[in-house]
Amino acid sequence: MTRSSRAVASPRVVCIEDFRPIARRRLPKSVFDYLDGGAEGEVTLRENCRIFSDVTFRPRHAVSFPACDLHTRVLGFDLSLPILLAPVGYSRLMHPGGEVAAARAAGRAGIGYILSTISGHKLEDVKAGSSGPVFYQLYLMGGRGAAEAVIERARVAGFSALVVTIDTPVSGIRERDYRNGMKELISGGPLEKIPFLPQVLSRPGWLLGFLQDGGLPGLPNVVVPGKGPMPLVDVAAALAESAVTWADLRWIRELWRGPIVMKGVLTGDDARRSIDEGAVAISVSNHGGRQLDGVPASLRALPEVVEAVKGRIEILMDGGIRRGTDIAKAICMGARAVLCGRAYAYGLAAGGEAGVDRAIEILRTDMERTLRLLGCPSIAGLDRSYVNVPKSWESR
Ligand code: GLV
Repeated sequence: MTRSSRAVASPRVVCIEDFRPIARRRLPKSVFDYLDGGAEGEVTLRENCRIFSDVTFRPRHAVSFPACDLHTRVLGFDLSLPILLAPVGYSRLMHPGGEVAAARAAGRAGIGYILSTISGHKLEDVKAGSSGPVFYQLYLMGGRGAAEAVIERARVAGFSALVVTIDTPVSGIRERDYRNGMKELISGGPLEKIPFLPQVLSRPGWLLGFLQDGGLPGLPNVVVPGKGPMPLVDVAAALAESAVTWADLRWIRELWRGPIVMKGVLTGDDARRSIDEGAVAISVSNHGGRQLDGVPASLRALPEVVEAVKGRIEILMDGGIRRGTDIAKAICMGARAVLCGRAYAYGLAAGGEAGVDRAIEILRTDMERTLRLLGCPSIAGLDRSYVNVPKSWESR
């Protein structure tokens, strides 16, 4: 066992939540809060996790089976677990291994990885790191020229799908980022940075890794034609430039002939529109409670979307997943698989690649135990008969 895998082994890390205090101790406050925080009063952020307790299980007892089948298929890819690692911006600030480390861990585990536009490693290196399917999450940062260039690079590198995030006409206000000086630290001048430096200096281990990694990473996947890679900007500036509309989807589809997943669907209307515009899957998502505060938890939005889609395309879900039981509930309610963001990013921050391995392992053993306790031998067998859903969820 290496030093980093010991740091995230049991009994120190028994469940996903255990990564959080380790990540908090390792990261400067600004980076930890970027990962941990949400928009405005963080109501949706909290609700994403809380809502799982409104759905309870209906297990079938006194049954036994020799093996549990945890496999599922997403966009035709066989996944060993119904999980994809969600796009997480600024992963390279959480750990120098960043997106490459996360993609490697995903590939090793036989699950998918989705690379954020706001990434610090080149998409070619991320793809090369993973033996599993890798999707590219698209924001229109840097304008249409930069998007056209990255779509072509993703195609050549062998990315399997484009994930288009549709809930970012502007950035939600993440108040913690303002208080911590995320903008000043990332793109301010030396004088602007000074008030926010103590939190960085108080994390010498992180700082050493950051400096050895070359300091602020830049955005190697946002290359503006004639100008080169965009320098790193704070998230508010990044998302202010990132809006995608249904009209953009037309030219995106012309360039990207592969599968398109729409991420950020919360209503039956947007689900139907996604189908009409040619998406092969959607992710029911509120962007981890980071955009419009006050929208429903993802799990709560799922029934309306399932009803609208009527089995025509695949439904994914992200938001609030911390345990295998959460994943099982989402699948019982109609999701084919889930995207996990913070659940692995806390692990990345706490222990680099070993932390991501450990997070996936926790979710895998959770899933197997949950299926056995439910009396259901396979992910494919999970359905509404295994859960009690509040009556009020049936009608809007
Ligand atoms: C980036 O997409 C973020 O939500 O911070």
